[in-house]
Amino acid sequence: MTEPQDTPNPENDDVQGEGEQRQHRAIKSFVMRAGRMTEGQQRGLDQGAPLFVLPLADAPVDYDQVFGRSAPRTVEIGFGMGHSLLEMAAAAPEHDFIGIEVHRPGVGALLNGVLTQGLKNLRVYDTDAIEVLKRCIADNSLDRLMLFFPDPWHKSRHHKRRIVQPAFAELVRSKLKVGGVLHMATDWEPYAEYMLEVMNVAPGYRNQAEDGKCVPRPAERPITKFERRGERLGHGVWDLKFEKVD
Ligand SMILES: C[S@@+](CC[C@H](N)C(=O)[O-])C[C@H]1O[C@@H](n2cnc3c(N)ncnc32)[C@H](O)[C@@H]1O
Repeated sequence: MTEPQDTPNPENDDVQGEGEQRQHRAIKSFVMRAGRMTEGQQRGLDQGAPLFVLPLADAPVDYDQVFGRSAPRTVEIGFGMGHSLLEMAAAAPEHDFIGIEVHRPGVGALLNGVLTQGLKNLRVYDTDAIEVLKRCIADNSLDRLMLFFPDPWHKSRHHKRRIVQPAFAELVRSKLKVGGVLHMATDWEPYAEYMLEVMNVAPGYRNQAEDGKCVPRPAERPITKFERRGERLGHGVWDLKFEKVD
C-alpha cells in the first residue's frame, strides 16, 4: 500500500445522530480528503484528464469504442497513487485497464504517468467505484477486477465502510465474465479474514486458493515500496483470488 496509506479519519462520519437526510445516504468506503497537488499531479489533471478521464455514464459504456479495439479488460478500484496500475498497464499493452480512484492527487499522479509513458491502454474514473460499476460497466464484461490494499477501516464500528461486503461481491460477480477473477490484496490480516468470510459464502465464486484461504503472491501484482518495507519488517500480505463460476 503506497500513499495514501492511512484509513481516513472519519470522526464525523458516523451516521447515528446526524439528522435524517444523512441517515438515508449510502455508506461510502472512502472519505474525501483535501490533498496538496504536486506540479506533476496538476499536470496530469490539466493535460491528462481531458484525454483519459471518462465521465460517469447512465448506460453501459462500449469500451471497445473507447479503446478502439477489443481486448481483455481489467478494472482496479482504489489505485491510490497509481504505481501498480501504471506498471501493470505498461507490462501488458495487449490488455485494457480502467482505474477508479476518488483521491484527486492520486488521479493526477496516475494521469501524469500515463502521459509520461505514453500509455494507450488505460482510462480513469475519478468517482465512486460503486457508481461506476453500477452505471457504466456492462454485465459479464470484465476479465479481472483488482482491489489492492483497500482501506481496512480498523474499528469495528467502521466495518460497515469496508468495500468488501456481500452486496459488493454480488455487484462484482455481475460485472465479471464467467472465468473472470476478483483479485484482492491486504496487509491487514483481520481484513483478509473478513474478505474470506464474505467471499467464501458469496454465490457464484470459486476460491482459487488450494487451501480455501489465500493464494501465493501472484507475480503479476507489482510489489510496492510500502510492501517491500513491510516485508523487511516481517509484516504479511494476503492475496485472495475468487473466480466467477456462474
Ligand atoms: C488504502 S488506499 C490503497 C491505494 C492503493 N491501492 C495502494 O495499494 O497503494 C485505498 C484507496 O481506495 C480509494 N477508494 C476507497 N473507496 C473507493 C471507492 N468506492 N471508489 C474509488 N476509490 C475508492 C481511496 O481513495 C484510497 O486511495
